[in-house]
Amino acid sequence: MPRTVYVNGRYLPYAHAAVHVEDRGFQFADAVYEVAEVWRGRLVDEARHMARLERSLTELEIPPPMSQAALAHVMRETVRRNRVANGLVYLQVSRGEAPRDFPFPKDVAPTLVCIARSIDPAKIAARADGGIGVKTMPDIRWARCDIKTVMLLPACLAKEAARREDAGEAWFVDESGLVTEGASSNAWIVTRAGRLVTRPLGHDILPGVTRRTLVDLLGIEGLELDERAFSVAEALAAGEAFVTSASATVMPVVRIDGRPVGDGRPGPITLKLRLNFHHAAAISEP
Ligand code: PDD
Repeated sequence: MPRTVYVNGRYLPYAHAAVHVEDRGFQFADAVYEVAEVWRGRLVDEARHMARLERSLTELEIPPPMSQAALAHVMRETVRRNRVANGLVYLQVSRGEAPRDFPFPKDVAPTLVCIARSIDPAKIAARADGGIGVKTMPDIRWARCDIKTVMLLPACLAKEAARREDAGEAWFVDESGLVTEGASSNAWIVTRAGRLVTRPLGHDILPGVTRRTLVDLLGIEGLELDERAFSVAEALAAGEAFVTSASATVMPVVRIDGRPVGDGRPGPITLKLRLNFHHAAAISEP
């Protein structure tokens, strides 16, 4: 089926969808984005993604390209036109196109792109069955990782380094040896006593929507949460580890830098949270 991409008001064939060479997203990474899961043809946690997008735009003083309701319509329509049953929908908003100059241009309309793509749920399930390895890397990102910008080069470098070592994700580690988050996920451990641990929100991590929904699920499941930073050594000594993201929901981590976590297999609490994740999420009708 031919793919369709939304660009600045039009739904275009994939091959013809383009933004200008002087788009500030391309020139300066002056752009933000959102990624939401499409699950059984429906959007997962749409309101939380929209709220985060609005916050990212506000922090960078990029005017919203349209109302939240209109943005949600574009996301749904892109999903529908591409007949995505399970997959991801991406919204990207840049400050717009203007002759190259660092300060913000005046009277420029933001650029809006929406892309939806299918992901085979069986492939993700197979990954989750075995769990993934992570590679730790120094966190070389900027001081506002709470804003979801397209400035993803450190994540690309980290993911590539991880891939070369057969690891499915990279974990960034701060100067104190504490894990900040994954290259495209939030990082969690389950202590041997069965308590969940994840880094508290701040400027050093993205406030993951999946992380937020998982906090709700922990309440439902009666599991205890400690929002505090943990070290790589603590993760290696933990019973279980996992990452959360829109693309992987709850993904077991079974190795860190080639060394096993727990018994080297996905842990029971992780798997239970993975199984029940969508019960705690808000699922929007198409
Ligand atoms: N990544 N931390 C970072 C640095 C991320 O890029 C992401 C999401 C997360 C998890 O956020 P959420 O649960 O809202 O997906 C945490 C998206 C999926 C991406 O790779 O584009």
